[in-house]
Amino acid sequence: MALTTTDPLDVDVVKADFPLLSRTVHGKPIVYLDSAATSQKPAVVLQAMDHYYETINANVHRGVYTIAEEATNALEASRGKVRRFIGAGNDAEIVFTKNATESLNLVVGSWGRANLAEGDVVVLTHMEHHANVVPWQILQRERGIEIRWIPLDGEGRLDLTDLDRLLDGAKALGVTAMSNVLGTFNPVRTLTDAARAHGAVSVVDGCQSVPHSTTDVQALGADFLAFSAHKLCGPTGIGVLYGRQELLEAMPPFLGGGEMIRDVSVDGFTTNDLPWKFEAGTPPIAEAIGLGAAIDYLGTLGMDKVRAHERHLTEYAMRSLSERFGDDIRFHGPQNADERGGVLSFAFKDLHPHDISQVLDEHAVCVRAGHHCAKPLMKILGVGATARASVYVYNDESDIDALGDALEATGEFFAF
Ligand SMILES: Cc1ncc(COP(=O)(O)O)c(C=O)c1O
Repeated sequence: MALTTTDPLDVDVVKADFPLLSRTVHGKPIVYLDSAATSQKPAVVLQAMDHYYETINANVHRGVYTIAEEATNALEASRGKVRRFIGAGNDAEIVFTKNATESLNLVVGSWGRANLAEGDVVVLTHMEHHANVVPWQILQRERGIEIRWIPLDGEGRLDLTDLDRLLDGAKALGVTAMSNVLGTFNPVRTLTDAARAHGAVSVVDGCQSVPHSTTDVQALGADFLAFSAHKLCGPTGIGVLYGRQELLEAMPPFLGGGEMIRDVSVDGFTTNDLPWKFEAGTPPIAEAIGLGAAIDYLGTLGMDKVRAHERHLTEYAMRSLSERFGDDIRFHGPQNADERGGVLSFAFKDLHPHDISQVLDEHAVCVRAGHHCAKPLMKILGVGATARASVYVYNDESDIDALGDALEATGEFFAF
């Protein structure tokens, strides 16, 4: 019988799709709980990339011979898959970059440099990843732009009380759709509407949201959306920048070189059409093909089911670990699983996150410890680092139970 979107994911079947998950660490089956940093890759993605190298490896957009055309078609087919995956209007709006960080740097380096002068205001939030902070701060140093910050409430949600005042006179708003530390889902549509009403463009960081739920850039009202393939079952080395076509058309090039030019002479150059205007040099061809395969793979699972599965696991983790450890475990961010994704930053006893992560590794449980590239947020939380477990399509309750067992052992290890 065909699965419907209300059926849960069959995690045993999903797990078997990911070769790495069959390995052991320190003689124990791996429990991978760091998908917010990077996801594992299903065999179909690896095979699609191998297939490119083994059968159609050629540079794209240049050769007129058969395999060059096949490679070009495969690359551009992936662009179409990305467009459909996020509900964009046309392929011109889908720019391939190196990663989300480069996508955000492209927005600031091109749109920002062309449109922002001394004293102009950009509004960010206290939960942004450094990738949506530092590029703006570079412009702040260079141009003297003003950065205003949307604060957080006590549960790690954006406090929008002063939103109108913060956006007053602003030219851009940068916001993450979901915090990579707190798990918080932000009210993106409310924010992009407010930005538009104030004449500001919206730059949405979709790194943690796009891999885990259905994305529709029209519904989000985003002018720009950045994300990385490697967090959504795809390879490293490729990211995406979605931009509204009229904005991208008006923007100057970001990087110069092959592919982004229409013509060059000793007197100057003219730029290629979108999206290639922003794709200088040989693009990540195999990676784009891998990204296309990843999108196909997630499509077969169904993004609604992915979200429902992760919501369930998040709720299970918070409930079962709280029952087991009481006040010894504390989760940062909203306590209601409806308000957050599957990223669980936690404090355990009074142990240092790095100590926790190291002992968990001895039990083959992979969690991240650190500032998660969100140092302004760490300061607000009053911590230097957190331990963070994050789930994806291949995790199930047994992984959460394994985390609990390993935490118990960690507590015992440090009890002396
Ligand atoms: C919310 C968020 N934004 C941006 C990034 C940067 O992604 P990348 O390192 O792939 O450029 C990450 C990655 O951890 C992230 O979680």
